[in-house]
Amino acid sequence: MKIDGTPYRAIWVDETDRWSVRIIDQTKLPWALDLVRLTTMEEMAHAIRAMLVRGAPLIGASAAYGVALAMRADPSDVNLAHALEVLGNTRPTAVNLRWALARMRDVLHKQPPAARTAAAYEAAAAICDEDVATNHAIGTHGLKLIAERAQSGRRVNVLTHCNAGWIATVDWGTALAPIYMAHDSGIDVHVWVEETRPRNQGASLTAWELAKHGVPHTVIADNAGGHMMQRGDVDLVIVGTDRVTRTGDVANKIGTYLKALAARDNGVPFWVALPSSTIDWTLRDGLTEIPIEERSSAEVTTMTGRALDGAITTIRIVPKDSPAANPAFDVTPARLVSGLITERGLCEANEEALTTMFRDLA
Ligand code: MRU
Repeated sequence: MKIDGTPYRAIWVDETDRWSVRIIDQTKLPWALDLVRLTTMEEMAHAIRAMLVRGAPLIGASAAYGVALAMRADPSDVNLAHALEVLGNTRPTAVNLRWALARMRDVLHKQPPAARTAAAYEAAAAICDEDVATNHAIGTHGLKLIAERAQSGRRVNVLTHCNAGWIATVDWGTALAPIYMAHDSGIDVHVWVEETRPRNQGASLTAWELAKHGVPHTVIADNAGGHMMQRGDVDLVIVGTDRVTRTGDVANKIGTYLKALAARDNGVPFWVALPSSTIDWTLRDGLTEIPIEERSSAEVTTMTGRALDGAITTIRIVPKDSPAANPAFDVTPARLVSGLITERGLCEANEEALTTMFRDLA
């Protein structure tokens, strides 16, 4: 997608040296566009852990390039195993990380050390290119849902949570891909952007993306979503996901489950957009089996923003003696999901539909 007229991906190999890896530092958005250059596997692991890069598909693509950087430094079996372990332990919930690392491992184990660097860069580039094509396909399938609702002649209001846009992937996004396509095809679409406490990926990232693309949107407090649905102001919910079980349970950013409950109570369709690399075919019960990341309590007790004098400032908003807990994801049971928007088409959130659509993967 474009930023101020210039096309970008969320991760790429530096055009000048052709080996270091460039990312957009998402901890600086929306205040600054900082294109960080990463030169080691350790720097990539830090970028994933500290969420300079984030979003399930982008975490996978970043880890793949982390392996490439490791192989450039030392292509031995020992270093390959070390890189897979370090990168694999950066974040627990998004299964795309494990998926991408398994794919890199399978490619590199077949290569002698001398051939591994080139093979790793090639495999990482393929993961990125496939992610772009996959998300484009998700967009075209999801577009039908928005286009159907636009037939009434009224503006279509879509509510989304967290950031499942192009910067959460290599390009296009998952939940936002159908919205970009609807907007670009002339459909009057408006997005309710939930701020997504505690890290505010909605307020800082989704709002930034949509504004850069010119998509009408309004940021709301997370707590406002149910009220908007009760008033009939939401036609459709579309969110992304970090892991889907073979039975259709959906892990996504904390707060997603509450929106699914509100959507069910108000008869609002609740759709989840995902590439098949987000399906964990080994799991059946999302509630007990999907690992939920616990992040620092500082993400809850503090907020960072731009002060009126222009300085980026972090302030504490919780009394200093009050502890805080920070589960970063929740699980929405399949029964609350209207359907899944995948690269192969729209799919019911249940085992039969998923294993039929993805017979070759299941
Ligand atoms: O903690 P984050 O910001 O990595 O969480 C991201 C989300 O929960 C997204 O909704 C999900 O990864 C889908 S991204 C296309």
